[in-house]
Amino acid sequence: PPLILGGGSNVLVSDEGYRGLVVINKIKGRTYLETNNQILLTCGAGEVLDEVVKETVQKGYWGLENLSAIPGTVGATPIQNVGAYGVEVSQLIVEVLAVHASTFEEKIFSNEECQFGYRDSYFKSEPGRNWLVINVTFKLSTTPNPKLEYGALKDLQTTADLSPALVRATVTEIRAGKFPDWHKVGTAGSFFKNPIIPKDQFDELQKNFPELPGYPVGDELVKVSLGFILDRICNLRGHCERGVCLYEKQALVLVNETAGTAVEIDQFADRVATIVKEKTNINIEREVRKV
Ligand code: EPU
Repeated sequence: PPLILGGGSNVLVSDEGYRGLVVINKIKGRTYLETNNQILLTCGAGEVLDEVVKETVQKGYWGLENLSAIPGTVGATPIQNVGAYGVEVSQLIVEVLAVHASTFEEKIFSNEECQFGYRDSYFKSEPGRNWLVINVTFKLSTTPNPKLEYGALKDLQTTADLSPALVRATVTEIRAGKFPDWHKVGTAGSFFKNPIIPKDQFDELQKNFPELPGYPVGDELVKVSLGFILDRICNLRGHCERGVCLYEKQALVLVNETAGTAVEIDQFADRVATIVKEKTNINIEREVRKV
């Protein structure tokens, strides 16, 4: 299948490049449809996500504000089920219009048909990869609908004059303190997914590391913070090998300081996975797509 890229901010391309057609999705356009208190925003897949978030916030619409300052394009959001600070796009996406790369069939995928999971969707599956996202429809709201459960946003819960703009400003500030500037350093944000492990295994780990953050996923599973594990259990925050590092302010973020090749990044990531396995018996999965 052709390789379809949005902003290219979540891929690690092999040193050999890609043998095949590479399509950069530049489809633009933003249409707002207002009904009662609900806004339907249909947005071209090639729009830069953060510019869209900024515009919706300026209009005073609630919905996308927690997803401020994330690199990449709108078309990538349903593929990856982009999420941050207590919101995942799956909570906002009404439907996705896509075209099949070989048959050119057009299809509207309902939210359910997108089969969203944590950093996952139908579009990541083998058949799903053949679909090129044309536009995404989000539901936004004029009625205040703040999502402030995430730790660093909790302080806003008592703010009287809360607005989407204030949430956006707060999120942008948090991100600036945690993530490297991707204009200056090679990075794809979180390199791995937060692992989802059996509750028993989590309880066992928590005996030794009581502060280990975990979030229940159903009755028997817990999503654990790999950043904490890399930092506090494996002592890998800031660790570098051959120019590749786990970022000093957020261990889940891999940064390419001076590495020359994708192989070096690949090997480093594999070593990190091996260390996590040795120390915790957890198998970790990459979040970044390897091409
Ligand atoms: N932590 C540490 N040390 C570290 C990093 C994190 O102790 O070096 C601890 C933090 O103190 C916190 C916990 O681990 O208690 C979780 O850290 P954080 O809130 O920074 O979030 P995360 O789980 O590491 C996820 C997403 C991010 C998203 C943030 C905020 C994944 C793979 N990553 O990171 O998404 O911005 O939550 O919601 O789910 C991305 O996908 O590329 C991405 C950046």
